[in-house]
Amino acid sequence: MRKIKIIVVGAGDRGNTYASRVLKHSEKAEIAGVAEPREKWRERLARNHNIPSPNIAEDWRELVSKPKFADAVIIATQDSQHKEPAIAFAKQGYHILLEKPMAPDEESCRQIVSEVLKAEVIFAVCHDLDWIHYVMNCKCTSIQSFGTLKHFRAEQKPEGAADRCVNCSVEPKCPYSAKRFYIGCVKKGATGWPVSVITPEVNEASVMEALRVGPYGRCVYNCDNDKTLILSGAEETLESHLMVFAAEKSRRENIVVNL
Ligand SMILES: NC(=O)c1ccc[n+]([C@@H]2O[C@H](COP(=O)([O-])OP(=O)(O)OC[C@H]3O[C@@H](n4cnc5c(N)ncnc54)[C@H](O)[C@@H]3O)[C@@H](O)[C@H]2O)c1
Repeated sequence: MRKIKIIVVGAGDRGNTYASRVLKHSEKAEIAGVAEPREKWRERLARNHNIPSPNIAEDWRELVSKPKFADAVIIATQDSQHKEPAIAFAKQGYHILLEKPMAPDEESCRQIVSEVLKAEVIFAVCHDLDWIHYVMNCKCTSIQSFGTLKHFRAEQKPEGAADRCVNCSVEPKCPYSAKRFYIGCVKKGATGWPVSVITPEVNEASVMEALRVGPYGRCVYNCDNDKTLILSGAEETLESHLMVFAAEKSRRENIVVNL
């Protein structure tokens, strides 16, 4: 059987995870191209999958404008960057696995659906609800999303706190210290998620550098958090509430989950 050729758009956490899955089923599929602006992440995926240099790009537009050279594309850019590549690759006849959410607004979702139907390509969205089942410990019967950002606002920032954990005098006592969390992961010998999300090379020096300059090292009270979701469900006597504080600009920057 011919191997399915797949392009990865966005070689961040999810793109890299999917690509690793493909490697585990290398008799069935291969990664044939990658588009990723961050050099180290792009090079890591290209190296791991022996991708020929003409099929390695900084931006997905470069790959979609080439004559079609793969069967499918995995789109794993950030939420607000899904619509454009999804429509462009559909128009070129690529089958698509799109990361969830399809798009941040209904109109964009409808446009994507309309274009994939027109193109008659296979289209799947990776929506995993398994974690809801996990936190509920029973079948979730309803989900609601509402609320406003309450705690992680600049005015709640502890006195004397710096803009980054690495040079913050409050950090040793702060429950949200990114330094304690990520360096702690390295010290425990972790090499994969979540620490692999902030740097492609997991060691203490690269993690410190990522916290010094990258989005994950910012003070949680200074992040551009913009969403609060409350999910609830009930089955018989059990009721749970999950509060998710998330942030997204061009990239998702910080997530704290309180149960
Ligand atoms: N299904 C799930 O369980 C699950 C879990 C986490 C995240 N997600 C979703 O997956 C998506 C990716 O999340 P992530 O955590 O991997 O984010 P990430 O920030 O680690 O990866 C996104 C990548 O897209 C790259 N990118 C930006 N512009 C690009 C361009 N023009 N061309 C090619 N690549 C470009 C970024 O440089 C980055 O490396 C998001 O939509 C997120 O909501 C899904």
